[in-house]
Amino acid sequence: MAIKYPLPPEIDPERLPRHIAIIMDGNGRWAKAHKLQVALGHRAGTENLREIIRNASDIGVGALTLYAFSTENWRRSKTEVDALMQLILDFFASEIDELIENRVRITILGDKDGLPAPQREALAQAEERTRHLEGLRLNIAVNYGGRAELVRAAQQLAREAADGVLDPAAIDEAMLESRLYTAGVPDVDLLIRTSGEMRLSNFLLWQCSYAEFLFPETLWPDFHVPDLHRCIWQFQNRDRRYGGR
Ligand code: FPP
Repeated sequence: MAIKYPLPPEIDPERLPRHIAIIMDGNGRWAKAHKLQVALGHRAGTENLREIIRNASDIGVGALTLYAFSTENWRRSKTEVDALMQLILDFFASEIDELIENRVRITILGDKDGLPAPQREALAQAEERTRHLEGLRLNIAVNYGGRAELVRAAQQLAREAADGVLDPAAIDEAMLESRLYTAGVPDVDLLIRTSGEMRLSNFLLWQCSYAEFLFPETLWPDFHVPDLHRCIWQFQNRDRRYGGR
């Protein structure tokens, strides 16, 4: 089937970011600007997700990671947390068949055990049903914190060392990386945070070591495929040196 939004000619299809991560910020401000309740801002922020994921898959991005719910988001009102949890359920219920059809492999980043049972089960099921697929790697961060992820990896390594199955001197970057939620996924090449905020907010601290950061002013519900393409174009015009010259 033809790609709905092909890459514009100024983008080099051979130099796409292998891994794009998105902090989908600005749903609250979008809701306020439209005189709507915040939950409706989040709902609007799931409506553009389908086309963004579909296009990332169509154009051949290797991995896409979306920040859906951070460990800090529990501090929001119960009404807002409930709305976000419901949206996460609705998203998987409505999208899973198409994602499977498109060979998308879903991985959840974060502590599923800290989630209500329906969400925990739906997310585990989405991972299970797509584990064998080899298309786009779609990572959804839910109840995720970058520092907690590093602590968890350190605990796993320490446990193995205490059990005598791992020599602490053998711990290197690759070994630590293999204990992260993103094990096997390449580092983030491009990090996009919408709404003009310029913070990382505890997202993918390890994986973003050499990422290019872009902060478009667009509020997340207004961010569509042409905006994604503009970000990829900007990425391709950055000079990445990885500490070299
Ligand atoms: C930040 O906007 C956005 C969030 C905290 C939630 C993002 C979640 C979704 C888009 C929906 C669920 C996602 C999936 C994958 C099903 P904000 O509320 O902090 O915006 P503000 O800074 O304008 O208030």
